[in-house]
Amino acid sequence: MGILDKHVILEKNVTLLAIFSFIVVTIGGIVQIAPLFWLENTIEDVEGMRPYTPLELAGREIYLREGCYVCHSQMIRPMRDEVERYGHYSLAAESKYDHPFQWGSKRTGPDLARVGGRYSDDWHVDHFRDPQSVVPESIMPKYGFLENNMLDGRYMEDLLRTHAIVGVPYTDEMIANARADFTAQADPSRDPSGLFERYGENVNVRNFGGRPGISETDALIAYMQMLGTLVDFSTFTPVPSR
Ligand code: HEC
Repeated sequence: MGILDKHVILEKNVTLLAIFSFIVVTIGGIVQIAPLFWLENTIEDVEGMRPYTPLELAGREIYLREGCYVCHSQMIRPMRDEVERYGHYSLAAESKYDHPFQWGSKRTGPDLARVGGRYSDDWHVDHFRDPQSVVPESIMPKYGFLENNMLDGRYMEDLLRTHAIVGVPYTDEMIANARADFTAQADPSRDPSGLFERYGENVNVRNFGGRPGISETDALIAYMQMLGTLVDFSTFTPVPSR
């Protein structure tokens, strides 16, 4: 009697089939879950990662409020077509300061994990005002009204503090200077040296939206332009799997 013939015994006895199914599923579950108990960390640290600047964080809040995640993902999967279209696959560390994470679950529009630097600020301004003016077949809604919503950074301290509570390493100094850093990043007439000191020299400082004052468009573009740009993939080498 071959092994396949013995299988008939299981197929004909519901109780026996249930018991054996349970055993098989249990083994599969243990194999998947148990290793996680012995891993010290599921996120490998990667050079270049820093917490969002206050202006970027404000832009991210607008991204959440407007539900951009409903149409856009922020996770490039390690498959050839994705990597060729969007760039290096996303690393876990790249979303470690995201609360909540923005991986998304649906792509009505393209993945945005590495949209930073891909377009000019002006392109974003035009695209938010009227997406069809730059991509005629686009079904993205218009977001021109964001330009009229002015921001003064008055809640930035609280926002940074809230993120610090859930583990983002904002220092007391970063929190105390949140509002000043917020303004310094969008207004090139201010001295950005404190901002650079706290967040690094690579922070984009400019009038993103091109209009006077700081609007929600400025914050959103500051956020768009840094997405996926923190890790330098010309020097990055993946940690060999253990
Ligand atoms: C109804 C779905 C939908 C929503 C909501 C939406 N988008 Fe889009 N988005 C699209 C589509 C479709 C495209 C591709 C066509 C185009 O470029 O307009 C796109 C393109 C983009 C692009 C260009 C990406 C690239 O690589 O070419 C950016 C940036 C973008 N969206 C940002 C946003 C932001 C920020 C929000 C929220 C304020 C948002 N989108 C909301 C559907 C959406």
